[in-house]
Amino acid sequence: MTDSITPRDRLIVALDLPGEPEARAMIAALGDSVAFYKIGMELAYSGAGLDLARALARDGKKVFIDLKLHDIPNTVERATRQLATLGATFATIHAYPQTMAAAKRGAAHSNLKLLAVTVMTSCDDDDLAAAGYAFNVRDLIARRARQAADAGIDGLVLSPEEAADMRAALGPNMVLVTPGVRPAGAAAGDQKRVTTPARAIASGADYLVIGRPVTEAADPKAAANAIVAEIESGLATRR
Ligand code: C5P
Repeated sequence: MTDSITPRDRLIVALDLPGEPEARAMIAALGDSVAFYKIGMELAYSGAGLDLARALARDGKKVFIDLKLHDIPNTVERATRQLATLGATFATIHAYPQTMAAAKRGAAHSNLKLLAVTVMTSCDDDDLAAAGYAFNVRDLIARRARQAADAGIDGLVLSPEEAADMRAALGPNMVLVTPGVRPAGAAAGDQKRVTTPARAIASGADYLVIGRPVTEAADPKAAANAIVAEIESGLATRR
């Protein structure tokens, strides 16, 4: 849990938009109100996302590449090595021991930090049983978080509800990134378990990933500034 990150740098806006024109228009509208962007599968697979990531990094923005890698170790290592050339700050992988070890090799000698996804928040205990797992969600998250720490992974993507437990279990150095955050009064959309920015930060999250409350706001810049103010009030409760 790093307290030296500025409140603005803790807001990561998810550019879940269909293509480059929409993404560039949003980035222009947000201007200096946002310093960190997440590029996921939709934008990456539109063909423009990775070039956009490179351009954003060149322009001094921070970039989170959210492609959740998982494949045989050789492929993961080589794919991670490619992602490390984009100038991105974070990239996601699934928290399988083989995958994490391979991604670590791929990211070696670069500034890319790896975030592991433990259990998708769309999975409940029945889904894990159906997929053949012997663990329930809570135990599998705890097991994989420990494996991520042992593998030297930099951080975890997790629901805000898990942040406090994970912070207690893993200590101050693991970077915790939480989606599922909604400013007070915003629509939840399809997120089932939501927390406000202030509460997520107060429970130990380092960064918040927020998409629609910013990108679908009538005034995205004002929405981003309001979230940064909420982050500031959450940080004040940690001091
Ligand atoms: O629009 P919204 O704020 O719900 O966007 C949240 C972002 O975080 C999306 O890009 C989504 O894919 C991502 N995410 C999530 N839940 C997870 C992992 C990632 O919502 N467990």
